[in-house]
Amino acid sequence: MRLRAHAKINRSLSVLGVRPDGYHELRTVFQSLALHDSLEFQCVRQGFAIECRAAGVPCDERNLVWKAARLVWQEAGRRGEPVGRVRLTKRIPTQGGLGGGSADGAAALVGWNRVWETGLSLDALSRLAVRLGADVPFFLVGGTALGRDRGDALEALDDLPPRHVVLVFPAFGVSTPEAFRWWDEDNSAFGDRPSAFGDITEEPRPEARGPRLEAPGGDQNDLEAPVSRRHPELAEIRRELARAGAEHAAMTGSGSTMFGLFQEHARAVSAAETLRGQGWFVLVTGTATRQESALA
Ligand code: C5P
Repeated sequence: MRLRAHAKINRSLSVLGVRPDGYHELRTVFQSLALHDSLEFQCVRQGFAIECRAAGVPCDERNLVWKAARLVWQEAGRRGEPVGRVRLTKRIPTQGGLGGGSADGAAALVGWNRVWETGLSLDALSRLAVRLGADVPFFLVGGTALGRDRGDALEALDDLPPRHVVLVFPAFGVSTPEAFRWWDEDNSAFGDRPSAFGDITEEPRPEARGPRLEAPGGDQNDLEAPVSRRHPELAEIRRELARAGAEHAAMTGSGSTMFGLFQEHARAVSAAETLRGQGWFVLVTGTATRQESALA
């Protein structure tokens, strides 16, 4: 049984403050991309294995595909360790804010539930997804969706109009905790300390930057400024994407990948060529609707 695990971008991302559990309270609009990994699940008699040839992807218990297998196995009341084999074909570059590992984890929840005939409901799988990571529940919804709380309380939105997407990968990476720490540093340095939890259970503070909830097509990523301050290359990529005709350019998630949205394919392709010519690694893909990115 094969499943496609689609990448995402954060079309917008507002950081509203810090929660008591140390996570950040978010409002983010996720958007699925056509770019995807593939997972092929097999039932075997004994043992558990992940086959993956991509450099830097762990094939052991650190992989979310493995963690997902354990969660489904245990939730279904089975004893001992899970039994199965999965071949993982990676196309989504890792650790760039495209949610590749999380997408694979979500696909694994759905895939194992099906091949083992464990019969867990989508609700049950969503609860397991939250345990895998804050980004994971989105991939069970797909398309365009609003994420609240840690980004893990999902509300499906109508699909946004399709766009061609140019992804630009700077040479440096940013870890997710690092990006949030930089946001903390920058927001306390100016006397605007991250709010106490009491403030952020309410609607966004008036001064909160970023898109308003009723305007999910808003286009700010609050993590971009802190990352850009430390890596000015991002601002340069944003300028180049705009110059090449992107109707919108921003960082996705905690970075460091930047994306540009284009209405015309030819323009996206020529923007990609220009940016490649300047030395960046670039991919061209498109947005994917909920139906196109569906796991079930
Ligand atoms: O949940 P996940 O493992 O993807 O999160 C990785 C890290 O990113 C967390 O340990 C936390 O430091 C940071 N994070 C955060 N607020 C969020 C999501 C992630 O601070 N809403």
